[in-house]
Amino acid sequence: MSGGAAAGIAATRALAEGVTGRMPTVGGGSRRIAVAGNPLRIPPTFSGDTLTAAVTRQNIWSDVETDVWTYNGSYPGPTIRVNRGDTFTVKLVNNLTEPTITHWHGLIVPHKVDGHPMDAIDPGETFDYSFTVDQCAATCWYHPHPHTRTGPQVYMGLSGLFIIEDDEERALGLPDGEFDVPLVIADRRAVGSHQFAYELVGDDHTDGYLGDTLLVNGTPDPYLDVVPGLYRFRILNASNARILTLGFEDGRLIRLIGTDGGLLDRPYDVSLVSLAPAERVEIIVDFSGDLGSSVVLKSIRTTASVGDPPPQGVEMQVIRFDVVGESTKQFQVPEQLSTIVRYDSSEAVGERQWEMGIYHPNPEIREHLINGLTYDMQRIDAQVPLGDLEIWTFKNTSFLPHPMHVHGTQFQILDRAGNTKLVPQDMGWKDTVLVPPSQKLRILVRMTPHTGVYLVHCHNLEHEDHGMMSNFEVVEKTTGVEDTDRSKTLNIDLR
Ligand code: C2O
Ligand code: CU
Ligand code: CU
Repeated sequence: MSGGAAAGIAATRALAEGVTGRMPTVGGGSRRIAVAGNPLRIPPTFSGDTLTAAVTRQNIWSDVETDVWTYNGSYPGPTIRVNRGDTFTVKLVNNLTEPTITHWHGLIVPHKVDGHPMDAIDPGETFDYSFTVDQCAATCWYHPHPHTRTGPQVYMGLSGLFIIEDDEERALGLPDGEFDVPLVIADRRAVGSHQFAYELVGDDHTDGYLGDTLLVNGTPDPYLDVVPGLYRFRILNASNARILTLGFEDGRLIRLIGTDGGLLDRPYDVSLVSLAPAERVEIIVDFSGDLGSSVVLKSIRTTASVGDPPPQGVEMQVIRFDVVGESTKQFQVPEQLSTIVRYDSSEAVGERQWEMGIYHPNPEIREHLINGLTYDMQRIDAQVPLGDLEIWTFKNTSFLPHPMHVHGTQFQILDRAGNTKLVPQDMGWKDTVLVPPSQKLRILVRMTPHTGVYLVHCHNLEHEDHGMMSNFEVVEKTTGVEDTDRSKTLNIDLR
């Protein structure tokens, strides 16, 4: 009976394989038999000691070669896996025709190897990175960070996962191996062309570069064959600007186990997960009762607007899971995952505010600003004492949502619009958080253990490239006291 259902999916897919283009699914209700689509690609695992950024071609769509910019020849880039305590050493080789530098998003590393735009290297040059990874197990990622060119370089294909593992996590017995699956989601404006052309026009300057097609691990219209049982999915929104609101078509709950910086204290069952550019979640999905069915993950409709390219908030299918075969391995999800010690806001010794605004006297030139300023690579906008717990306010005075990211730390969310009752996703370690239009959101930040220049910026990459980024310098406390003047003039204090 169940074997027959599995065979049914296979047969239907075989029928569809000679057909080009998207085919509808057939059947009714929550149980359906799926057809067509492309098997989910899994990025290769990084090995060796070199990361080469270069222009290449890849068959993203079967009918055409797409020009892509890749790390080590693959989009998405190879998945780097390290253990906590490992020293990661790599040589970046720039074989592009423009400057680049690679940033390790979510990793707490010395500023010299953080991939700051001031360290961008010219074509033909190399940059040597070496750092010890000392933070808990997490799904992080890497991507270029040259000033004004991050948007196009990420869009053209330069990004990959950086997964940290540790003993605490291994002891939990979460799904691993083929049951631990990365889903790197990114939209591309590719209908018709099947190319990754990047050219900003009109509203792209305000909204960011939104696509019409979701790719998962570089796969259009993807499906994955799964067996009945538990899977762990590591989901990254690697889009330039698209905000996803993930949910299952059949309404099943999402078991959320991790956020940007690692595992949550326990699993939480939620119906939807919002995922702004650069944010990550880890989820567990149980396909035990789904043999012979297809389970669809989508980004649900959150607004009613229409347009071309599809605006924020339209419904898009992410991936279809076809449940076939027999389960081979048993996993469980423990009731207790990690220990997250909540920062105590009454212990905060400093406060600062980052106000995100938009300025366009001439609508053709839209600048996105922080505290009224456009990014200047040489200017330090704030000095943050090493090791101090601080409250940072993201004050969004614009009409656009801004996913705000801080380098060199994992922070905690204190409140949204004054509300300290947080959703589960806001209760984990975070390095990127979505600040809705006209909202104030506060985070608790402790910059440690490295001094030096780090960045705070919007991770809508068009906003970032157009100035919504700021340098702050982590300083030994004594230095901070002597040299507060230049930060005072540029940074608005709450008290
Ligand atoms: Cu993911 Cu400053 O970047
Ligand atoms: Cu970062
Ligand atoms: Cu923004």
